[in-house]
Amino acid sequence: MNRIFFRFFVLVMLSITAATFVIYFAFSRLFGDPLDDIARRQAAAQIFLIEQYVDKAPADEWLARLNNVRLVSEVRYDLVPLEQARQQVGGARRAALDRGEIVLDPANKTLYRRVDLEGERYIGSHEEVLVAHNLPIDIGQALKMEALRYIIVAVALLVPIALWSRSHWQGLQALSGMADEFGSGKLSVRAHMKPSASIYPLAERINHMAGRIEDLMESQRSLLHSVSHELRTPIARLEFALELLDARAKDPDLHKRIAAMEGDLAELNNLVNELLDMSKLDSARSLQVATLDLHALLQECCAALPHAAARLDCEFAQGLGEVEADGRLLGRAIGNLLRNAQKYAAGRILLSARRAQDAIEIAVEDDGPGIPEDEREKIFDPFYRLDRSRDRATGGFGLGLSIARKAVVLHGGSLRAEASTGLGGARFVIALPLATDGE
Ligand SMILES: Nc1ncnc2c1ncn2[C@@H]1O[C@H](COP(=O)(O)OP(=O)(O)OP(=O)(O)O)[C@@H](O)[C@H]1O
Ligand SMILES: [Mg+2]
Repeated sequence: MNRIFFRFFVLVMLSITAATFVIYFAFSRLFGDPLDDIARRQAAAQIFLIEQYVDKAPADEWLARLNNVRLVSEVRYDLVPLEQARQQVGGARRAALDRGEIVLDPANKTLYRRVDLEGERYIGSHEEVLVAHNLPIDIGQALKMEALRYIIVAVALLVPIALWSRSHWQGLQALSGMADEFGSGKLSVRAHMKPSASIYPLAERINHMAGRIEDLMESQRSLLHSVSHELRTPIARLEFALELLDARAKDPDLHKRIAAMEGDLAELNNLVNELLDMSKLDSARSLQVATLDLHALLQECCAALPHAAARLDCEFAQGLGEVEADGRLLGRAIGNLLRNAQKYAAGRILLSARRAQDAIEIAVEDDGPGIPEDEREKIFDPFYRLDRSRDRATGGFGLGLSIARKAVVLHGGSLRAEASTGLGGARFVIALPLATDGE
């Protein structure tokens, strides 16, 4: 709010300053210098005195009247030679002085006026100029008043702008909070706004969009769930039928074929189970959160790992503490990463855990071929496997990382892939928010 308002403030001030200059230049061009005008108004009494009292005097009394004025006035009146005055006024004003007009010099609080043009007042009077110093001209004061006037106008403009932007800002804050929650997976969240709110129509559209997305996700999830579920029965029937067939088969060749078919069926069964697990992970409702000792959880993951050629080292920082998590899901995510590392490591795997600033980081790294930088996000897509001959040899559906990420995200954490600087292969990092942060 403050930032937007500050920008508005600066913008309004800049426009008002620009408008002031434009007004000044336009007025000077069309009607003469406004500062001159102000000075003329401020020196109006002295000008009146010269024009009405001194000038209107008969020629022989002129000097006497001027002296009278000199005596009673605080303004200093002098007579100077025309040439000297012409030099002092300079520029465009010289012509006006020559014509016998009153020439003001606001900066020096001075005015010039020729005594007369024909020398009718006294001998040589057409060669002299009446100069009045110390005129009560204060341009600074006038400018301050102008500035104050503009500032009052600007503030008067800013008050409605502030009120207007405040109502917008509050609405936008509510919308962005809703978008954050929606983005983090809480698909049922909606923006609640009064119909009188300025951005109510926008909120309505966003709610509508959120509703559509929620429906689509829900129908996709339930489709995936139903298809996987429906596949279980025919698979079970096929398994049963194959076992019967196997028992009755006499031909050893047929036995081999049946065994291969059973292997394929087992793979299909695994896939269906993984798909079912994945569809369950689409909502936080499936979480069974408890307070877990992280150290113990990590050791369980290592113990549950099948035996493999690669050596597994563990490096756990002291005092890892506890996390609020679903132990089964988190353990499964870590297990997925460890099994992947076993598949791809050349000889070493490192499981490490430490406390970072506001999260706990669990990292699994290996000395295998690693993952090219442009593939590091794609490998988290379901069924995505790197097109490497090795991947085909290692088997798997390409669902493990996708399931692991979903599980970690459900805990409010994140899972990313990077390069392992220590071992040279891939490094997967699970970052979990600390228990005190609300998770
Ligand atoms: N530690 C690793 N080193 C190199 N590549 C990896 C590593 N872990 C994963 N990958 C790449 O990411 C792909 C996706 O991994 P993911 O675990 O999702 O699937 P998978 O292991 O192939 O199959 P599944 O886990 O479903 O049995 C893998 O096929 C592999 O190409
Ligand atoms: Mg895997």
